[in-house]
Amino acid sequence: MKRDFRKSTVYQIYPKSFFDTNKDGQGDLKGVTAKLDYIKELGADYIWLTPFFVSPQNDNGYDVEDYYNIDPRYGTMADVEELIEEADKRGIGLMFDMVFNHVSTHHEWFRKAMTGDPYYKDFFFFRKGKPDGSPPTNWESKFGGNAWEYVEKFDEYYLHLFDVTQADLNWENENVRKEVQNIVKFWMTKGVKGFRFDVINLISKSCFEDDQTGDGRKYYTDGPKIHEYLKELHDMTFGTDARIVTVGEMSSTTMDNCYKYAGRDTGELSMVFSFHHLKVDFMGNEKWVLVPVDFQKLKEIVFEWQTKMAEHDAWNAVFWCNHDQPRVVSRFGDEGKYWKESAKMLGTIIHCLRGTPYVYQGEEIGMTNTDFTDISQFQDVESLNHYQILQEKGLSASDALRIIQIHSRDNGRTPMQWEDSEYAGFTSADSEKPWIAVNGNYKRINAADQLKDKDSIFHYYRKLIELRKELDVISFGDIKPLDPKDPSVFAYRRTYAGHELVVTANFYGKDYEWKGAQKLQGFKKLLGNYKETEITQDGVMKMKPYEAAIWYCQTF
Ligand code: GLC
Ligand code: CA
Repeated sequence: MKRDFRKSTVYQIYPKSFFDTNKDGQGDLKGVTAKLDYIKELGADYIWLTPFFVSPQNDNGYDVEDYYNIDPRYGTMADVEELIEEADKRGIGLMFDMVFNHVSTHHEWFRKAMTGDPYYKDFFFFRKGKPDGSPPTNWESKFGGNAWEYVEKFDEYYLHLFDVTQADLNWENENVRKEVQNIVKFWMTKGVKGFRFDVINLISKSCFEDDQTGDGRKYYTDGPKIHEYLKELHDMTFGTDARIVTVGEMSSTTMDNCYKYAGRDTGELSMVFSFHHLKVDFMGNEKWVLVPVDFQKLKEIVFEWQTKMAEHDAWNAVFWCNHDQPRVVSRFGDEGKYWKESAKMLGTIIHCLRGTPYVYQGEEIGMTNTDFTDISQFQDVESLNHYQILQEKGLSASDALRIIQIHSRDNGRTPMQWEDSEYAGFTSADSEKPWIAVNGNYKRINAADQLKDKDSIFHYYRKLIELRKELDVISFGDIKPLDPKDPSVFAYRRTYAGHELVVTANFYGKDYEWKGAQKLQGFKKLLGNYKETEITQDGVMKMKPYEAAIWYCQTF
């Protein structure tokens, strides 16, 4: 079946937290197969599965030890084949997550490198320290601390932009690139319909110098050979099959690079994830702080990417959530009184944008951030490292914990809330304890209740996904911001071949009078989170807390 990714929606699954079928407290591949009908009902076209390959799990599978085999905690190769086949029967394609910036230090290549084998040493970046013995550069690991680890027997350091057990691969080495191509081809032959490439814009490292003004990212982000490497990967692997859809995770990237990464005819990837719009509660690039959400900046960034990517005929993935982000309803919406309204409002904004929407497991039922009150409940290596670093910087343990509670990646990793039974139906009552605690609000927020309730967040998301398929103006139209400076409203217009669509969203939990509704003469409301929308004679929309609506008009 030929799918058009511009009309498609992708559902992201973090299998460890999705559904546990063998009662060991961890989700597994059979658990994904068991829930395919749920995803089908939601209407998603693809499933992006985060890594389940053999791994010591120091970064939950993003530290791959063997790309050709399945970690027994997740299941077997037969389980993968069954999943691909069962998904295919339902018209759902699988996208696998390819981690090629680094491998686990347990990977055979790294183990051989550590024996001193020069062939494999050249798969990595081993470098001498500075004359005083300190690391080769001052670059910081994204998970905290210096990015170089000392190896005494070589009197050298190796580079790890992430955890010390995630060694960066040397893409300058043609043998590395060939190995990577073989892995992609192997999964293509298994019937995989797409790939997500992990932090792929970090693979081209140029020079190893101290960064006088920052953490080193300018020396490896969107590096000098990045487009060459991506074109080669495209031509040698997925580019030979037009049905394959690809998305690259682009860390701290620039738009100029994304025009090429995801341009229609540039021969690199189908689309990109960029993250600037999710740094609006950071201080610059610093995530471990508490600052309020900058709504104006959020709109500026979203609209700038939307319009410029369109001008350059390039394609974005559009999303609020993934396994590295806090839950959006907690972050930009309201977990309390207006939980349902705000979750629907946020879904409305994303799903009518130009791009391919991604829904992260649990987002479609409005799952919230964790309710953890003690650092011992957190599991994520990044959170635990930064909890220490914050205290080393002088913060009290409770202030450090507060920051972790808000920003931790574990917010998105608590088990999927299926039912109101013990462990939220993620696993059964007689199972091992889940690897990470279930959020205590599962009796109020769970999929079973929402499937029955036609007014639920689940069914609202289902309609949003359906609308994109029905209306070309959503999938193909141009986009223009409306009242971009308005302090409360997120609004935009889409146009395509005589069709117009307008999205209006009150981003806050207070009544608001929006003066821009004259533009809606002759428009019909297609969907919204309140039944009635009041518009006065003189074009004022009396918006209720978090009120959002989609308006449509045929202009000829
Ligand atoms: C990406 C993944 C994240 C992982 C990191 C290192 O950002 O989404 O979960 O920790 O890459 O592989
Ligand atoms: Ca299991």
